[in-house]
Amino acid sequence: MKVLVVGSGGREHAICWKISKSNKVEKIYCAPGNAGIAQVAECVNIGAMDFDGLVDFAKEKKIDLTVVGMDDPLVGGIVDAFEQEGLRVFGPRKNAAILEGSKAFSKDLMKKYNIPTAAYETFTNAEEAKAYLENAAFPIAIKADGLALGKGVFLCEDLEQANEAVDELMLNKMFGDSGNTIVIEEFMTGREVSVLSFVDGNTIKIMSSAMDHKRAYNGDAGPNTGGMGNISPNPFYTKEIDEYCQKYIYQATVDAMKAENRPFKGVIFFGLMLTENGPKVLEYNARFGDPEAQVVLPRMKNDIIDVFEACIDGTLDKIDLQFEDNACMCVVLASDGYPIEYKKGYELFGQENFDGKDDYFLFHAGTKFDGDGKVVTNGGRVVAVTALGRDLQEARRKAYEATEWVQFVNKFMRHDIGRAIDEVNL
Ligand code: AMP
Ligand code: GLY
Repeated sequence: MKVLVVGSGGREHAICWKISKSNKVEKIYCAPGNAGIAQVAECVNIGAMDFDGLVDFAKEKKIDLTVVGMDDPLVGGIVDAFEQEGLRVFGPRKNAAILEGSKAFSKDLMKKYNIPTAAYETFTNAEEAKAYLENAAFPIAIKADGLALGKGVFLCEDLEQANEAVDELMLNKMFGDSGNTIVIEEFMTGREVSVLSFVDGNTIKIMSSAMDHKRAYNGDAGPNTGGMGNISPNPFYTKEIDEYCQKYIYQATVDAMKAENRPFKGVIFFGLMLTENGPKVLEYNARFGDPEAQVVLPRMKNDIIDVFEACIDGTLDKIDLQFEDNACMCVVLASDGYPIEYKKGYELFGQENFDGKDDYFLFHAGTKFDGDGKVVTNGGRVVAVTALGRDLQEARRKAYEATEWVQFVNKFMRHDIGRAIDEVNL
């Protein structure tokens, strides 16, 4: 079969790589893709938001299955656009992708269906938000309702910071219309866990857990990023926690969406916080995580095409989703200055060091070919250096070893990805 993947990041590289392992697939296209994805797929220069262009391409090439990696097109209704033309596509429709597209929607859903999450209030008026903050407890979390490249959350220590956040979001519109509505939320403390799942509208199957490292600098300092590294499994995600989440969070979310006439098919990514009062949902995403996909998919035993098809057909209950009893870690090599200001266009050296190695991967995020066919940096996050190991310690040792194999000007990384491994008795 022929498969089209929509997106251009490290997540889409991992998805394309996993699809390439399926013996059902004869050809993979990726729109728009990047210089690493080009190793496993034919990249086509159509933007992820160009729904007409993508639909036309899928028809022309007789694509059997399209897989959407990114949040923007999903929230914008790309799945509906494909389905209207009778094309097979993996991902939630617009009315279900709202689970990620609107924090006010997802918070209201959780409240209505008793899914554990932080207490909150929603505001569409800056004065009312500020009046509420006068009597609020600090610290407090203030969030843009809509998509904001993962940067729409302000954690405010005091009233002054909180008022500034309200001004930035609602008056200065730093994320445009995404800040027309804001959510003000109780501050939670605890370990964070990323749990990805496949969903077919009724059934949910959980993938192995992961841990993101969102801040830019060592010691979880600096600004929030899309993620600077990841480990899987998450050492804090115990069997007891899994049982609790299975009981109160995962199926409850799928059932709630169904009850709202918004059946969810695709990937739900649960951002959880393990608080003193049990696991709570920080946020939902309607797609694989980036870089969670880079550490979870290499551990997945199933043919991913079977799982995608089962989600579309509503037969996920027939799939025995399995993961290797091993571990995986990735370290993101970024352009110095990310996520604020950085230069790009520098040649990337060392890709060949990963050739022929089954337990090391170089997933490309922001790379492209320059005019001469050289691979150059083309984004804040450049590559995710990824390694499998028997356990987390070995995966970490190998991933950091492999970070030395790749060179480019302004290479920047965190040196403490997976430090939580040392804090638990494994
Ligand atoms: P989100 O985009 O909602 O996942 O938020 C980004 C990050 O902000 C999360 O990964 C948390 O580290 C932090 N965060 C979000 N909401 C809260 C909250 N209510 N309390 C504490 N930290 C939060
Ligand atoms: N790594 C977090 C995300 O994909 O949203």
